[in-house]
Amino acid sequence: MNFIKAEEFTDSTLVELISDDKYNEELAKRADKVRKAIYGSDVYVRGLIEFSNYCKNDCYYCGIRRSNKNIERYRLDFDELIMCAKIGYKLGYRTFVLQGGEDMAYKDDDICRIVEEIKKIHSDCAITLSLGERSKNSYRAFYNAGADRYLLREETSNRQHYYKIHPSEMSFENRRQCLFDLKEIGFQVGGGFMVGSPYQEDEDLVKDLRFLQELEPDMVGIGPYISQHDTPFKDMENGSYKKTLRLVSILRLMFPYCLIPATTALGTINPFGREEGLRAGANVLMPNLSPTSYRELYSLYDNKICTGDEAAECRSCLELRVKKAGYNIVTARGDVSKTKRFY
Ligand code: SAM
Ligand code: FES
Repeated sequence: MNFIKAEEFTDSTLVELISDDKYNEELAKRADKVRKAIYGSDVYVRGLIEFSNYCKNDCYYCGIRRSNKNIERYRLDFDELIMCAKIGYKLGYRTFVLQGGEDMAYKDDDICRIVEEIKKIHSDCAITLSLGERSKNSYRAFYNAGADRYLLREETSNRQHYYKIHPSEMSFENRRQCLFDLKEIGFQVGGGFMVGSPYQEDEDLVKDLRFLQELEPDMVGIGPYISQHDTPFKDMENGSYKKTLRLVSILRLMFPYCLIPATTALGTINPFGREEGLRAGANVLMPNLSPTSYRELYSLYDNKICTGDEAAECRSCLELRVKKAGYNIVTARGDVSKTKRFY
């Protein structure tokens, strides 16, 4: 295939690029060139605080779904969360990502109080929330309390596929609407999806890319689907490592200014996944900042990295790895560049 500009990718071009291993090198080379032109060799780090593994949802693929009776549940209280942020600040983090299951024990006021307190102590930091679907009013309250960004993967842009991987009580339309609400309120917004989730076709991934073009996100997070032994999908095949890397590159080419993480799932499916993710066009890493005693309990999928004894060393371990791969960790909020964006 003659490589054309990303703006001109047709659906069939995208299916070909997504599906064929022969495009790996070329895509990564082009994507790395684009990210270098915009972000240089800089890699932004976000301190990830997985604050609760309670969830009211029952996504068939997810290890912390409410029907999983085999995991011990935990939630961090206000003081523990503030302590995590303080430790993270000392380690050099200037963005904190508060992620958890849809745990309604945290009322809007609780979330606002946490956001306000972190902002009061660390005014030069950005706060990213990733708490799932809430009402527009709740999102507005979080934004007014000082939250800057929100991550909510659309998971899939094919309605039929959505209901193959989620129970019918969940809403395909609402999840998408939440993303547009968040954007309208003023959040920097991140969408995304799993690569190789059960029943996914390459055409579904194209639908995701088209949805993201409509959304114009500031961040896109993707990672391979990885099975979890206590879910209905426990025997389903994992997503493809190489395909995930190709999609990282395609995202960089289609959304040059987006912040794209090399995710933990990518690092779980391959020991060099995060470094290769950077080479393929990613420019964000999200090391785990949660207290080590809880990390194993946030078991979305099996064999998740950075949950064992070595977990406290995540920051220094990653810094070394990133340097070795030829990139450079920067300590900055790392907001998306709003000035020159094209899709
Ligand atoms: N509750 C929030 C939400 O719904 O956005 C945030 C937490 S949720 C666990 C974060 C992401 O983990 C999901 O958007 C999903 O894509 C990913 N995830 C869940 N189970 C996974 C699995 N088995 N393999 C890979 N990624 C998974
Ligand atoms: Fe709620 Fe996975 S089912 S976070």
